[in-house]
Amino acid sequence: MKKLASLALAGLLLASGSTLAAEGQKPAKGISFSFEGPFGTFDRQQLQRGYKVYKEVCSNCHSMRLVSFRNLAEGGIFTDEQVKALAATYTMKDGPDVNGDMFERPGLPSDRFPSPFANDEAAKTANGGALPPDLSLITKSRPGWYGTFNQLWNGIGGPQYVYSVLTGYEEAPAELAAEAPEGKSYNPYFGAGHWIGMAAPLADGVVTFDDGAPNTVDAMAKDVAAFLAWTAEPKMEDRKQTGFMVMIYLAAFSILLYLVKKKVWADAH
Ligand code: HEC
Repeated sequence: MKKLASLALAGLLLASGSTLAAEGQKPAKGISFSFEGPFGTFDRQQLQRGYKVYKEVCSNCHSMRLVSFRNLAEGGIFTDEQVKALAATYTMKDGPDVNGDMFERPGLPSDRFPSPFANDEAAKTANGGALPPDLSLITKSRPGWYGTFNQLWNGIGGPQYVYSVLTGYEEAPAELAAEAPEGKSYNPYFGAGHWIGMAAPLADGVVTFDDGAPNTVDAMAKDVAAFLAWTAEPKMEDRKQTGFMVMIYLAAFSILLYLVKKKVWADAH
C-alpha cells in the first residue's frame, strides 16, 4: 500500500512536470529569491529596483491593472510621500466633467497602474499582433518548471519563468532560423513556443539604480521578477507568518492530546 502511494505520488509529480512545459521548452533557470521557503521575506531594496525597471522599461507596453500606487506604500516599498510623487508622474484619464467631457489629470495614490494603450486592439497593433499581457499576476499565471524539490518547497516558479524569459534570448538554431516568423525573437524559455512577440526588452545599463546596485540584464531581470512576485502576492509574508503560528499551535495541541490520552487510559491495562 505504501509502495503504491509513493508510486502514485511520483507519477503525479512527473506528469505535472511534463504538462507544464511546452514541446521543447527549456525548464526555467533555477535562481533563488529572498522570499522563497517558509520563512522567506521580500527584500525592499530589490523591490524598489524592480519597480524602477517596470516603470522605465516594461510599462511602455505592459499594464498592471490590479495594482494601485498606494499598494507600494502598504507593502513598505516606498513612503506615502514617495508614492504621491510617483503617482503624479502618470497621466490618468478621468471624467466626465460637468460638460460631459473626459479630461486628463495627474495620478493619485488611489489610482491603478494604467495601460499604456487605449485598448487591447491598439496594443496588438503596436506589437506586431502580439498582446502584451497585464503583469499584475504574471508570476502566478506562468509556472516555471525548475525541479520537483524547488516546486514543492519554493513555489511554482513564476518569478523564475519571468527571469528566464527576460534573460533567455538567443541566436535561433540554424534549422529553425529559416522559418523565423516576421517580427518575432527566438526564446527557448517562452511558454507558447520558441518565437516570442516581445523583442529583448533589457540591455545592460538601461536603468540606473539609486542604490548603485548592478544593472546588468541579469540583475535587472532578477529585480523585476522579484517585484512581479510581490505584485502577485503582496500579503505573502503575512500568510507565511500565520501559517507558522498555526503549525506551532497544532504541534502544542497534539502534545496536549497525547498526554490527555495517556492519563485517561492509564488505568485501562
Ligand atoms: C516593446 C513592448 C514591450 C516591452 C517594453 C516589454 N514587453 Fe513584455 N511582452 C510584450 C509583448 C508584445 C508580449 C507578448 C508576446 C507574445 O505573446 O508572443 C510580451 C510578453 C511578456 C511576458 C509573457 C510571456 C508569456 O509567457 O506569455 C512577460 C513575462 C513579459 N512580457 C515581461 C516583460 C517585462 C518584465 C518587461 C520589462 C523588463 C517587458 N515585458 C517589456 C511587449 C513588451
